[in-house]
Amino acid sequence: MSVTLATVSYLGATILFILSLGGLSNPETSRRGNLYGMIGMSIAVLATVLGPQVTAAGYAWIAGAMALGAVVGIYAARTVKMTQMPELVALMHSMVGLAAMLVGFANYIDPAAAGVFQGVEKTIHEVEIYIGILIGAVTFSGSIIAFGKLSGKISGSPVLLPGRHFMNLAGLLVVVYFGGVFINTHTVADGMTPLIVMTVIALLFGIHMVMAIGGADMPVVVSMLNSYSGWAAAATGFMLSNDLLIVTGALVGSSGAILSYIMCKAMNRNFISVIAGGFGTGGGAPAAAAGGAQPAGEVSPILAAETAELLRDSKNVIIVPGYGMAVAQAQHTVFEITKYLRDKGVNVRFGIHPVAGRMPGHMNVLLAEAKVPYDIVFEMDELNDDFPDTDVAMVIGANDIVNPAAQDDPTSPIAGMPVLEVWKAKTSIVMKRSMASGYAGVDNPLFYKENNHMLFGDAKKMLDEVLVALKT
Ligand code: TAP
Repeated sequence: MSVTLATVSYLGATILFILSLGGLSNPETSRRGNLYGMIGMSIAVLATVLGPQVTAAGYAWIAGAMALGAVVGIYAARTVKMTQMPELVALMHSMVGLAAMLVGFANYIDPAAAGVFQGVEKTIHEVEIYIGILIGAVTFSGSIIAFGKLSGKISGSPVLLPGRHFMNLAGLLVVVYFGGVFINTHTVADGMTPLIVMTVIALLFGIHMVMAIGGADMPVVVSMLNSYSGWAAAATGFMLSNDLLIVTGALVGSSGAILSYIMCKAMNRNFISVIAGGFGTGGGAPAAAAGGAQPAGEVSPILAAETAELLRDSKNVIIVPGYGMAVAQAQHTVFEITKYLRDKGVNVRFGIHPVAGRMPGHMNVLLAEAKVPYDIVFEMDELNDDFPDTDVAMVIGANDIVNPAAQDDPTSPIAGMPVLEVWKAKTSIVMKRSMASGYAGVDNPLFYKENNHMLFGDAKKMLDEVLVALKT
């Protein structure tokens, strides 16, 4: 493939990636967005493999690597459950980080590159390598820890070492110092020592940064690591002089940063402190250590038949789904109930918290899968003022996102996090299996409110019972 054709293909792929991101911003256009992304990526891979930088001798290696990647990818896509998606995403970010690191080292020791860059160009190229490996290493180790925390292999509680900010600052200074040493070396053998020292520090920094973050703040961290992985890819693009990788990396880097910002707002966290890495240490403490007054009082259990009766007598119903709906895979029954009630003239709407579930858009994906119409699915801010006019607010497997302590208790670990104000409805019904806390590990005073009832049990099972009761 000629250089011109490769450049035109890269341009086409870039446009498709931008269209893809645009499409993914709305559930209605997300399928199209996905398709654009897939076509763009196919063009990008083909143009690179057949492009001027790859010789025929490399084809077998590339084919082998692609076959291996495809097998792993297809296996993961088929076996990973929806609730495990964030872990998988974290693991994939770690791969991008690892790739950036390896490409950086390979690029540095490549005998073919020796003597290609001279003077200022050599310095610029070495800075690219140094920064690429740095971001790659932080992304790699940080994402591995995020994977461990999200999958429960590592405890979700924050690990706070004494003087951790000082350690981070010292690490940064050492990295800057060795950066200076690195670009002043003249041979690959001399440059390896500062490069390896920096890599070790960057790996430790990634571990330290994510270990210090509590469970409730993990979604922002995953999105932030997504952003880092984009910048790592962009840095790799600079190293390899590959324009498409630079643009794609920048798209991922900036969209990840924007998503992190939106999530920070949804969780009332400070974006700057997230970027700085020393973040969220007050939040996400486990239940035992968490601050905040413990709610007290009686809870009022309710049966499925009584729930059905309340729903049937309502004019306005708001359903708030959460992580438990995903665990129970109750979305199809939720749709059946919604359809039944709407056919009977009940105004049923859904209220979606930006961090409901375990990944951005988690609830939207499940509801779309169950064919719930998009026009009755609302974001938290669009619906929060409507709760006082709502007869029944039905909370399905959600907990933290409907916790009034976020507003009422300044000592609560989730204080300041915006929440869906379900307790303002005439009646709220919380559907969950027990009195256990949610992801943030804090108790929920909603359960003890006078106008709240608890429908205990697996969400799918209870909703099936509610549906049967509604229909009989
Ligand atoms: P959570 O606060 O985690 O509460 C979910 C509740 O679902 C649990 O209290 C659990 O109670 C219940 N549950 C679990 N399995 C169930 C089942 N089979 N049937 C019925 N109920 C079941 O969820 P949320 O309200 O959606 O809030 C999300 C939390 O996750 C936030 O703290 C958020 O910061 C965090 N987080 C979000 C993301 C993103 S990006 N969305 C990513 C990572 C973490 P029982 O055990 O008593 O049933």
